[in-house]
Amino acid sequence: MADFTSSFWGFYIGILTLVGIFACALLLWRTSSRRSSGKASTGEPGFTGHRWDETLLEYDNPLPRWWMGLFVITIVFGLGYLALYPGLGAWGGLLDWTSRGQHAQEVAAADAQYGPLFKKFASQPIEELARDPQARAIGERLFLNTCAQCHGSDARGAKGFPNLTDADWLHGGTPADIESSIANGRHGVMPPMLDALGGADEVRNMAEYVRSLSGATHDAQRAAQGAAKFAVCAACHGAEGKGNTAIGAPNLTDATWLYAGNIDTIVETITRGRDNQMPAHGAVLGPDKVHLLAAWVYGLSAH
Ligand code: HEC
Ligand code: HEC
Repeated sequence: MADFTSSFWGFYIGILTLVGIFACALLLWRTSSRRSSGKASTGEPGFTGHRWDETLLEYDNPLPRWWMGLFVITIVFGLGYLALYPGLGAWGGLLDWTSRGQHAQEVAAADAQYGPLFKKFASQPIEELARDPQARAIGERLFLNTCAQCHGSDARGAKGFPNLTDADWLHGGTPADIESSIANGRHGVMPPMLDALGGADEVRNMAEYVRSLSGATHDAQRAAQGAAKFAVCAACHGAEGKGNTAIGAPNLTDATWLYAGNIDTIVETITRGRDNQMPAHGAVLGPDKVHLLAAWVYGLSAH
């Protein structure tokens, strides 16, 4: 109930609930004790005087005792529940129970159970864990839960989401690099280069040159003109276009693409730039799980 901005709603709900329960109890009490005194037509006690088809008579008898008993039990249960647990407006309940508290307790219990296992793995180097079947099984499950929505359940990625199963790394493929990618996240920023190159035609030339770097089909004349301007790209992608893992600039000379290798996509990348982010997972998962994930990812590219 702490979500309410004023205490009025807490009282409002609490009173409405109690009045509702009280009204039920009153109704129950009234129907249990009332019995109509019988109508003149028959003189029988309880007969309401309503008659259908000659023989069908309506009586006003109290409800069966066992049924009333059940009703009383639900009221007592309801009041007891509302006294112990949150539900009555702002009243938190005598047991101080909260769903957050229960969740924290369950997490603590799980940590106590699995903590020692994670601690054991945490002290082993990633190269070793990458070959341990039990560690790999846990790593894969963690990956499916937290990473697959972006990198795919087979970790092969998609446009803008890197494939983690190949030996091509934007930010480096050593165990420490991968662990850092997962714990701290990564931010790949390529600025728009339309103005730096001097127009759409120059962008097209440069895109042809980029294709030539990986041996793809290209317009040789345009590529030569693009090559002459590659100095503006070299600061990040290196003079030979082989990339730079320190800033996540991709290698442009291989056939692996983060976006796609067709001319239109390359033109789009150069014209508008790219801004791509891998969220940091260190705080959410904790170092032990990050370590296991790093080992699983490291093992994917068959070291
Ligand atoms: C919200 C989407 C998203 C989620 C969730 C996500 N990633 Fe990523 N990840 C990315 C993107 C996007 C990049 C590329 C960043 C860039 O362009 O530099 C990336 C990059 C990486 C890299 C670096 C790849 C390289 O080539 O250097 C690794 C390793 C990685 N992710 C592993 C993981 C793991 C393990 C998880 C689960 C804990 C995870 N990611 C969860 C989007 C995501
Ligand atoms: C400031 C550094 C920087 C400069 C300058 C720069 N890039 Fe990039 N480039 C990057 C980064 C970082 C990425 C990865 C973006 C991401 O992670 O989404 C990238 C991505 C690309 C891609 C996509 C590759 C793929 O695999 O899909 C192409 C193509 C590209 N750059 C070409 C160029 C060209 C051509 C130039 C010069 C006109 C250039 N870049 C200038 C940093 C730079």
